[in-house]
Amino acid sequence: MLISALTAILAVGANLVSAATADEWRNRAIYQIITDRFAPPSDNAPARTEPLPLECNTADQTWCGGTWLSIIDKLDYIKNMGFDAIWISPTSQNIDYQTPYNYAYHGYWVNDLTKINLRFGSEDDLHKLVDEVHKRDMYIMVDVAINGIPSLSNTTIPPEGSMWTKAEQFHDFCQIDWATELTNDKQIKDCSLGDSNLWLIDVNTENPEVVATLRSWISEYVATYKIDGLRIDAAKHVPGEFWTGFCGAGGVFCIGEVFDDRIDYTSAFQKEKWMDSILGFPFYNGLVKAFSVEPRRNMTELTERIIGTLEQFPDPGVLGNFIENHDTPRFKNITADPRLVYNAMVGQFLFDGIPVLYYGQEQDMAWGNADPHNRGALWALGYENITTVQTVTRLNKIRQGFIKGNATYNGQTYLQSRSQIVANTTYDVAIRKGPILMTLTNRGSPEEAASFSIQNTGWQRGEALIDLLSCLDYAVGSGGSLSISYSRQGYGGLPYVFATVEDARHLGICNNDQLGIVVSNTTTGNTRNAGAVAVAPSSLFALVAGAAALAVLTL
Ligand SMILES: *[C@@H]1O[C@H](CO)[C@@H](O)[C@H](O)[C@H]1NC(C)=O
Ligand SMILES: *[C@@H]1O[C@H](CO)[C@@H](O)[C@H](O)[C@H]1NC(C)=O
Ligand SMILES: *[C@@H]1O[C@H](CO)[C@@H](O)[C@H](O)[C@H]1NC(C)=O
Ligand SMILES: *[C@@H]1O[C@H](CO)[C@@H](O)[C@H](O)[C@H]1NC(C)=O
Ligand SMILES: *[C@@H]1O[C@H](CO)[C@@H](O)[C@H](O)[C@H]1NC(C)=O
Ligand SMILES: *[C@@H]1O[C@H](CO)[C@@H](O)[C@H](O)[C@H]1NC(C)=O
Ligand SMILES: *[C@@H]1O[C@H](CO)[C@@H](O)[C@H](O)[C@H]1NC(C)=O
Repeated sequence: MLISALTAILAVGANLVSAATADEWRNRAIYQIITDRFAPPSDNAPARTEPLPLECNTADQTWCGGTWLSIIDKLDYIKNMGFDAIWISPTSQNIDYQTPYNYAYHGYWVNDLTKINLRFGSEDDLHKLVDEVHKRDMYIMVDVAINGIPSLSNTTIPPEGSMWTKAEQFHDFCQIDWATELTNDKQIKDCSLGDSNLWLIDVNTENPEVVATLRSWISEYVATYKIDGLRIDAAKHVPGEFWTGFCGAGGVFCIGEVFDDRIDYTSAFQKEKWMDSILGFPFYNGLVKAFSVEPRRNMTELTERIIGTLEQFPDPGVLGNFIENHDTPRFKNITADPRLVYNAMVGQFLFDGIPVLYYGQEQDMAWGNADPHNRGALWALGYENITTVQTVTRLNKIRQGFIKGNATYNGQTYLQSRSQIVANTTYDVAIRKGPILMTLTNRGSPEEAASFSIQNTGWQRGEALIDLLSCLDYAVGSGGSLSISYSRQGYGGLPYVFATVEDARHLGICNNDQLGIVVSNTTTGNTRNAGAVAVAPSSLFALVAGAAALAVLTL
């Protein structure tokens, strides 16, 4: 499986083929973009609309000027962090009139799938973007929003500009009643999202004519633009059986938005083969509850969801792991402590699944506790090489290193293996995933006289290990144990990613020339341009005086 995935990547590089499968996506890392907000107009990417706002004020809910061409300007910024795929917001035509929520700058108010959104460029521009993505051996995933057609009124059918022109192409109007969500899934599927300011009139995806039209559209769209994967908006609001045929017609990896914390409910999408994968909202909720909710950060909330995800999803290795997106708060908005964010990010990147990073997370974007504020213009912050950018780069490098390097544990590679919790306490969890062992803690930055003991790492006593985040060396204690101390100054509340020194050297991680990253606990200002901290953490086990540790100590 691994070998075929690697071969397929080589093939993409050589032939620029598209139509990537779930197996071809599982080793990728995805950078999520809201086209209007990621990159500004430039000489290469002239503005589509004039005049543009001087500043992008999220509260205005209007276009700020990003386009498909302007994304090209910053593709290398994305690639340099180690991402090999982008997910862009929908490319289809939206309503262009003003609503009480102002304009469709985000691209999710699609009224005609078959037309391109001229606010973001021409058909040629979209082709150019896809070509530039493929030239860099990256994949392109496009968001598709088919569930509802925007309308100011609950009675006007068809809504203005709608591709659907007959009453029977919509469900009879009703408003989703979230109070009965858990007991009445039928209305979640058939009623309309939105509110009296703007409805998203629910499309009748059981009508055979609608089904046939949507299948032929997606098939043609994927082929025309050489799309490698689809992110399915509002997947929860359409009967699951519909997606089997729709994604089948698309012929590429489908990952759905199933905005729901229930593991039995969300895992049905994979169990029933409705689509390849979903974005992992349960794991996300676990990370939020463990690492952000003050004052009672709760690790059990995370371990329960980890166990549930591993037990109930047939293939957790293709779930999308994120800590923020365009519908949730920025993680930094709900956690003041950068080390708690760092712990959440290690889970995001190294747990079973595909890391999905929402643009701006790497730039410490903290503004935005909800839509529309969580969609700031990235150019207001810039594209600098700040500490969090380096952390992201390092986590991608560790993951890619293990994916490409074939290191095994018990005969299984990193990708083949399923994560397993090997130890946990009220504040810590140790997760073994094939050749690596990560430890996460929600103790927070301040040092404390506490340690986390892992009785059985799976490694033998005396095995030389290295923490791939700090590049410091460790050795396994008796019975395969390991203990981490959070008491040394500068090392409170940090995550760890252990691997054998042998694997790390073989994979080129933590060689002499590479310095580890220890995220500062600064809570004011930001960690921009902050250097790595050059202090060895104390540990209850022997510190092996290896070259890697010396490199850090001589920083
Ligand atoms: C549609 O909107 C009108 C005016 O707001 C309201 O009176 C009516 O009850 C709504 N119809 C439905 C089916 O919700
Ligand atoms: C943590 O979450 C679990 C699971 O929801 C709950 O049972 C427990 O009471 C919580 N612990 C604290 C200290 O809030
Ligand atoms: C979180 O975002 C809101 C806007 O949605 C803003 O008012 C607030 O200051 C932000 N908080 C932080 C810590 O940045
Ligand atoms: C970012 O900074 C780090 C540390 O100085 C450096 O190793 C890395 O090459 C820089 N990355 C880019 C893209 O400039
Ligand atoms: C990993 O395995 C593949 C397929 O056997 C091989 O081509 C590749 O060279 C191996 N990589 C390393 C770093 O050993
Ligand atoms: C470890 O995690 C499991 C699963 O969530 C939980 O039942 C148990 O209480 C946790 N142990 C400790 C010591 O918190
Ligand atoms: C940051 O670290 C310093 C030095 O160890 C410590 O005194 C301080 O309490 C920490 N601040 C926070 C917010 O954890």
